[in-house]
Amino acid sequence: MKIISSLLLGTLLTLAGCQSLNSSATLYDELGGMPVIEKITDNFINEISFDQQIAAHFRETKIDRFREKLIEQLCNVSDGPCKYTGDSMLDVHQKMNITEGEFNRTVDLLINAMNQAGVAHRTQNKLIARLAPMRPDIIYH
Ligand code: HEM
Repeated sequence: MKIISSLLLGTLLTLAGCQSLNSSATLYDELGGMPVIEKITDNFINEISFDQQIAAHFRETKIDRFREKLIEQLCNVSDGPCKYTGDSMLDVHQKMNITEGEFNRTVDLLINAMNQAGVAHRTQNKLIARLAPMRPDIIYH
């Protein structure tokens, strides 16, 4: 009986150990890795195309490059195995005269994209929190 209960205790402790390992997984893993990041990006591009005001900024944009760089960036900020090779957020956005309202609207479109990709709300909030520090570089000042 003693052996059985110590075996049981050992199993429980191992399971508890796995739990705590799990909670230290990266946000990239929590999102669902590259397939979900690609899905979020494609949904986001789609959402932008439906929004006249935001889409107007992208009229001259090479969407293939935008897609590639945004995937890298979302992977990188969520501690995934990617390097961001695009331009700085300041260099890319300052010439666009982006308003606070347009920035907020774009975040709403990203949230739509994450909802469509089935990302849980608490995970969405974590990704938004990683992107939020970029706000001052993106809004025109
Ligand atoms: C947290 C919010 C945002 C993030 C993380 C973000 C991220 C990016 C990234 C990674 C690129 C690609 C850079 C490159 O090609 O090297 C990019 C480009 C671009 N972004 Fe943003 N962006 C954000 C907000 C916005 C907003 C609010 C707008 C406009 C309303 C906007 C408009 C654009 C446009 C038009 C381009 C393409 C520039 C070109 O054609 O070269 N972005 N953004």
